[in-house]
Amino acid sequence: MTSNKKLKMALESIKYKRGHLEILDQLLIPDSHEFIPVNDTSDAWRAIKQMQVRGAPAIAIVGCLSLAIELHNKEFDNKQSLVDHICKQLEYLVTSRPTAVNMKEATHRFSALAQALKDDKNYSKDDVKQLMIEELELMLEDDIATNKAIGKNGAEHILGSSSDQPVCILTHCNTGSLATAGYGTALGVVRRLHELDKLNHAFCTETRPYNQGSRLTAYELVYETIPATLICDSMVSMVMKNKGISAVVVGADRVVKNGDTANKIGTYQLAICAKYHNIPFYVACPVTTFDPNMKTGEEIHIEERPHHEMTRVKGVSLAPDGINCYNPAFDVTPAELITGGIITEYGVFLPDELYNCLMMIDKTKHE
Ligand code: MRU
Repeated sequence: MTSNKKLKMALESIKYKRGHLEILDQLLIPDSHEFIPVNDTSDAWRAIKQMQVRGAPAIAIVGCLSLAIELHNKEFDNKQSLVDHICKQLEYLVTSRPTAVNMKEATHRFSALAQALKDDKNYSKDDVKQLMIEELELMLEDDIATNKAIGKNGAEHILGSSSDQPVCILTHCNTGSLATAGYGTALGVVRRLHELDKLNHAFCTETRPYNQGSRLTAYELVYETIPATLICDSMVSMVMKNKGISAVVVGADRVVKNGDTANKIGTYQLAICAKYHNIPFYVACPVTTFDPNMKTGEEIHIEERPHHEMTRVKGVSLAPDGINCYNPAFDVTPAELITGGIITEYGVFLPDELYNCLMMIDKTKHE
C-alpha cells in the first residue's frame, strides 16, 4: 500500500552532529520551541531527571549521545581508563530515571562492547574510542527505522481487524517524535494510519499529573495536522462509550517477561476501561523496552515525582499547601489487559508469546 498523505516533516527534538548535541527543552512546550546544549553526561543526567527530555527511547538516545560527545572531547591514558569511564558514565546515566529500561539495556550492550573491543589486540586505544563513538551514534538512526517498522506493523494489525476501514485511535502520554529519535512508537502507529488515509481521528490523554498528552502529544498532532482531539483523563469511559474508538495504543517504559507493562500513570485505568468496552488495547514499543530479567510487573520500580509537580503548574497553586500527595509517574498494566497485542519492530505479539518471540529474535541475530 502506498502513502496518500503529503506529510509535514516530523518534529525534530534531538539535533546531533559529532561533538555537538542539542535537545528541544520539552518543559517549555507548547509556549516556546527552544533547544538547549548537552555538553556531557552530567548535562544529560540533569536534563533527563528534570524531564527536559523524556520518553523511554529518547532517554537512552540522549544519554548515549552525551557519552559520545564526552568521548569525543576527552583524552584517555590507555584502553582500560577509556573503558572504565564508558562503563561508569553509562551506569551513572541509568540512575537519572529508574522505570524506563532502555537506558539500562543500552548500558549492558555498550559496556559489553567496550570490554570486548578493549580485549581485542587489533584495536588501539584510539580505535576503541572511535568505534564506541560510532556505535553510540547509531542509536539515533536505528531508532527511527525501528519506529517506522512499529508504525507499519501496528497499522496493518489494527486495519486487519477493522476490515481496512478508517479507525479512531486513543493514545496516552507522549510517544511521538519528542519521546524517540523521530516518528514515534504508539504515535508512530497513529502517524502511519494517517499516512495511509486510514485514520478517522486520534484522541489523546494525560492531562495530569504531567500534561504530557496536552502539552506534547497535542503539540505534535497540531504540528503535523493530524485530525485529533484532546480529552481529559476523566472523560475516557464516556469517550469509549460514545465516540467509536477502534483501538487504544500506548507506549511502554518496561515490558517484563510475562507481558506486564509499565507506562505513564493512567495507562492501567485505560486498559480496564478498554476491556469493559470491548476495545482492543495495544502496547507499542521496540524490543529494547523488554526486560526478561523481571518475571512480573510486581518487580518494577515505579518512580515517584516531587509533590510540587502535582500541586503547582507554572507557579500557580492548584492545591493548598499542607495537603498530602502521592505522585507515581508510572503504573503497571497486567498482561491480561493487553488484548490487542504488543506491537514491535518484529511484528505484533500477544503477551504470552513474548518470551518465545525474544528467543527467536535473539537466535536470528546470531545466525
Ligand atoms: O514520564 P515520561 O514522559 O517519560 O513518560 C513517558 C511514557 O510513559 C511513554 O509512554 C513511554 O516512555 C514510551 S515513549 C515512546
